Amino acid sequence: MSLTTANPNKTAAWSKLQAHFNQIKETHLKELFAQDKERADKLTLRWNDFYADFSKNRITTETLELLFELAREMDLENAIEKYFTGDIINQTEKRAVLHTALRAAENDEILVNGRNVVPEVYRVKEHIKKFSDSVISGELKGYTGKAFTDIVNIGIGGSDLGPAMVTEALAYYGNHLKTHFVSNVDGDHVHECLKKLDPETTLFVIVSKTFTTQETLSNATTVKKWFLKHGTPADIAKHFVAVSTNLEKIAEFGIADENVFPMWDWVGGRFSLWSAVGLSISLAIGYENFDQMLKGAHAMDKHFRTTEFDKNIPVVSALLTVWYNNFFGAESEAIIPYTQYLHRFAAYLQQGIMESNGKSVDRGGSRVGYETGTIIWGEPGTNSQHAFFQLIHQGTKLIPADFIGYVRPLHGDKEHHDKLMANFFAQTEALMNGKTSEQVLSELKEQQLPQEQIDLLLPFKVFEGNKPTTTLLINKLTPHSLGALIAMYEHKIFVQGIVWNIFSYDQWGVELGKQLANKILKDIQADDIAKHDESTLNLLRYFKNY
Ligand code: F6P
Repeated sequence: MSLTTANPNKTAAWSKLQAHFNQIKETHLKELFAQDKERADKLTLRWNDFYADFSKNRITTETLELLFELAREMDLENAIEKYFTGDIINQTEKRAVLHTALRAAENDEILVNGRNVVPEVYRVKEHIKKFSDSVISGELKGYTGKAFTDIVNIGIGGSDLGPAMVTEALAYYGNHLKTHFVSNVDGDHVHECLKKLDPETTLFVIVSKTFTTQETLSNATTVKKWFLKHGTPADIAKHFVAVSTNLEKIAEFGIADENVFPMWDWVGGRFSLWSAVGLSISLAIGYENFDQMLKGAHAMDKHFRTTEFDKNIPVVSALLTVWYNNFFGAESEAIIPYTQYLHRFAAYLQQGIMESNGKSVDRGGSRVGYETGTIIWGEPGTNSQHAFFQLIHQGTKLIPADFIGYVRPLHGDKEHHDKLMANFFAQTEALMNGKTSEQVLSELKEQQLPQEQIDLLLPFKVFEGNKPTTTLLINKLTPHSLGALIAMYEHKIFVQGIVWNIFSYDQWGVELGKQLANKILKDIQADDIAKHDESTLNLLRYFKNY
């Protein structure tokens, strides 16, 4: 059964939300807190070691009720069941969307075309475990008999961003193996990486769902050539492994059968880190930690699937995006983790969210008449405070932001952590409260500045405040809590797609550029440049003749 299709802005809830928005759009967050003393408690959700405070958002309980009504009108409850039970909800590619099956319990049954996929998932997990254990222990050796010291993940998009983000995020749990990531077709990337490596002790993990991606195949071929300057073709089997659905192409590349890790077409690239695509994660932090991450994601899956909308963290979080995007006209959202370990988190979510929900055609095939996918960006605090926070505080744009922080640090240095978290709490408070002209005036007077200077400075020092934030406070950055956090955003993506009536799991928009690049590559390599627009033609001539 496919997903239903309906126009969200023709629902009764949407009209009610519009009327409600007109009523509360100017209301300051400070006023909302003053009106309801229990607001902070009412708008905070607790789940496991997550404390999700939504109260600094420009909403009331009525807003949430109307957003839930919208979700119900858009058939969210049924859609969630279809998502988890393997319905073909990626309709344009005729595929189920089952990254949740990758972290299912061993006795779960999830059918794809009548076959339970869970046993197969567990077979591959066992392979990941055995392989990681033998590399980490040094039992598996390179072609000269030395243990491996370096792992290079070659992939792009979902075959890079997830593993790269997680190995950084969980570096604290890392072992002696050094992990590297090569993704860009820009030769600088691969050649810089190779400079640091010893072919005798390096293991290459080629990750490509399709095994046809230009960047990955080019980088893998370059690496293979480099390796063959040292080892023989027979040694490739000891140093290259591959993760893909395209077993034929892997064999053509010369990878030994026992070094092939399969994946499935019901796992989208940007949701694949839970599969063997996460092999470099398992190598970097050990299989037990990798499995803990899967367990954390599974716990979030259960929360999302079984919890009422008003207590459901991904549902509330997704509907808030709808609220800001479609009623306030906010175009972007910032993700600000207050831990350096999550410094690639926003980049990872950019693909997850923007490749999924950057769509302008609805599930019925018509152009949407409302805004869809938001622009995602962000950097860790406190660095981001000294970079782009000025615009969030005093710019003209409304930028809702997720602040993600941890109660307990991994390093145990209380002094650093208290300073970090003081900034974390200060920013959301400042964004909400701002600073009135009266406050600024009294501060300037206290400094005993001349009146002329006070008049000059005053308007620049006023902060309107009323900038919405969500605070996610998690006990500790562990593989388990990270798994849950990533899964939370995955489900947020799903809910948004259902409400916006779009297909979240295809990515046709990436194709056009890829096709043209292939065509232009031929032009660059040939003497004759094919037909292009005048601008592109001039650029190509300049590039070729310089
Ligand atoms: O960017 C488009 C895309 O298809 C992503 O969805 C995917 O993660 C990436 O390319 C890499 O694809 P593959 O794993 O097939 O090499």
